[in-house]
Amino acid sequence: MKKTKTGIPGFDKLVDGGFPNGSVILVCGTPGTAKSLFSMQFSYNGSKMYDETSMYISFEQSKEDMVNQAKQFGWHLEELIAKGKLILRSIPVEDINHLTFEQIVQEAKEKKVKRIVIDSLSTFSINAPVYYAIYDLFLRDMITQDSVFSPPITEEFLLKRFIYYLIGKLKKLGVTSILISEIGNDSSFLSRDTVSEFMSDGIIQMFFESMGGQYSRSLLVRKMRHVKNDEDIHPVEISSKGLVIHDIK
Ligand SMILES: Nc1ncnc2c1ncn2[C@@H]1O[C@H](COP(=O)(O)OP(=O)(O)OP(=O)(O)O)[C@@H](O)[C@H]1O
Ligand SMILES: [Mg+2]
Repeated sequence: MKKTKTGIPGFDKLVDGGFPNGSVILVCGTPGTAKSLFSMQFSYNGSKMYDETSMYISFEQSKEDMVNQAKQFGWHLEELIAKGKLILRSIPVEDINHLTFEQIVQEAKEKKVKRIVIDSLSTFSINAPVYYAIYDLFLRDMITQDSVFSPPITEEFLLKRFIYYLIGKLKKLGVTSILISEIGNDSSFLSRDTVSEFMSDGIIQMFFESMGGQYSRSLLVRKMRHVKNDEDIHPVEISSKGLVIHDIK
């Protein structure tokens, strides 16, 4: 099995050398757990160290914000963007429409992208299903199919359909993808939609918790299909060069 290395110090050995090529990985955690940092490092390393074209789509941060944050860790994104090795897109939620995901997929195909990050699936999926319901596939598909199954068209139903559609399409595309999932502190699910954790091939869970009065960051490989993954919770350090995943002591 071919692997897509993250290049994040201490991480790849936890997943037997890297993410399986073409897999869809959910990176989930509560606010401020370094989900975006992990995913940006995955993209940056892909372009810089492994010469793979990476695409990072944010629905939450401006391009300038992402470039400046990366600079703190010595990652000069502009150089890679100029070379066409890194594609950075910032899409405000008000600009999301029924074509947004198709445009992402189209650009990924045209530019032979090997890694995609969607930051975040939570934000995208809150805003996108409405357009799909009105314009396209879900309802029409359901109606033209000879199916006895006729679910109520609720908001929850549309959201789940959108997630199945999105993850299914990314898997067909064959690009190794990270979908960022934002979860609340009290949530018993790993995503807001409650289905992407089952649909994805792998899950990385990130924590920022207090232990003995002190807050610390950690990470767990919650699932990785086809891989004998590590099962410990590992300390995460934000160093001057980015994330470092440590062995448990
Ligand atoms: N240069 C830095 N040095 C040390 N820590 C930093 C640095 N930059 C960011 N951080 C820490 O990383 C956290 C943010 O990381 P990141 O934006 O990746 O989190 P996130 O999980 O994506 O958050 P959100 O859910 O808000 O999107 C900050 O809250 C801060 O504690
Ligand atoms: Mg973030």
